[in-house]
This record gives sequence, structure tokens and C-alpha cells, in this order.
Amino acid sequence: MNFNDLVRLRSSIRGYEPAKAVEKDKLLRILEAGRMAPSAKNNQPWTFVVITSAEVLKEVHKAYARDWFWQAPVVIVVKGRREDAWERKYDGYNALETDLTIAMDHIILAATAEGLGTCWIAAFEPEILHKALGLKPEEMVFAITPLGYPSEKGLMVVPKVRKPLSSIVEWR
Ligand SMILES: Cc1cc2nc3c(=O)[nH]c(=O)nc-3n(C[C@H](O)[C@H](O)[C@H](O)COP(=O)(O)O)c2cc1C
Repeated sequence: MNFNDLVRLRSSIRGYEPAKAVEKDKLLRILEAGRMAPSAKNNQPWTFVVITSAEVLKEVHKAYARDWFWQAPVVIVVKGRREDAWERKYDGYNALETDLTIAMDHIILAATAEGLGTCWIAAFEPEILHKALGLKPEEMVFAITPLGYPSEKGLMVVPKVRKPLSSIVEWR
């Protein structure tokens, strides 16, 4: 699949086949794509938490209580600490959120290329997630994603609504 097709194909999937496990080789290729992401000063301030055990999934799901989220057989959490990320000396900008977001996007696009569904989730409850995974207070999570084979409902993707290029590009 070429890159343009891939970015058009990726959609937020909100329905999964709970009993259809994700193959380990696919999972490893997806994580490898995250590993290859760029990061400020190449600090790679991330850890990818791959949750597949029913016990931990049960707790993680409480952080985002949606029916469709419960269906996913895998959840990926990208986490990191501010102290591990590059900081701009002029104004103190810390690249952690940017670095973790790029890694997550690599993961999500790689999952799409493997025929798997994902969905960016930022509206989770951080306190519940931290408790579920035993994270330290300084470990930050900006986004999590379910991962799995889309169900029929999950595949009923609404057409992409995007602003036209003419309204978002400034040519100078
Ligand atoms: C930073 C970010 C946070 C998001 N958080 C959520 C979320 O908490 N729950 C959800 O269902 N979708 C979430 N989404 C998905 C968006 O709603 C979705 O990307 C957007 O509507 C465009 O649809 P598409 O992904 O199918 O192209 C999030 C997306 C991004 C980029």
C-alpha cells in the first residue's frame, strides 16, 4: 500500500473483534515503527506499554469506559518522563508530548498497514490509567489506542471530513 492510500485508509475504529487476537509478528512490526520515530535530539523518551492480559485490560478499560473500547484485545500506551525529553533553552519548551505523539502516530499508521484498527484516545482518566498500570506520577501519557481487528460495526467508517487545502495552506 502506498503512503497516500495508507493515510486515507486510517480511520478511528470504534468497534473490534474481541476474540480475534493480534498476531505477535504484526505487533512487533507495529512497535518497530514506533521505535523508528524521530525525537528531539534523538532522546527517544518513550516506553510502549502493550496490554494483552485480560486482568490488566479490565483495569485499563475503566480509564475510558466505552463499550467499543472494551472490545479491543490489545491496548497500547505510549508513556514517558519530561526529564528524559529535550528542552529548548530559550523558552523551556519540552518535547515530550511531541515525541510521544509522533511515536504513537507511527504505531497507528503501521497498524493500519497491517489491516488492524486503532483509535487515538486522549479523553481517558489519567488517574485511573496510572493506577491500572502502576505508573509513577512523573510518567506522562498523552494518548492511548485500542488495537485489534475491526468488527463490522467498527468498519462502518464515516467519510472523512477535512477542511479543504485552500483553507489551511498559506502559500508565501
Ligand atoms: C489528540 C487526539 C485525541 C483524540 N481523542 C479521542 C478520544 O478520546 N476518543 C475518541 O473516540 N476519539 C478520539 N480521537 C479521534 C478523533 O475524534 C478523530 O481522529 C477525528 O474525528 C477524525 O476522524 P478519523 O480519525 O476517523 O479520521 C482523538 C484524536 C486525536 C488526534
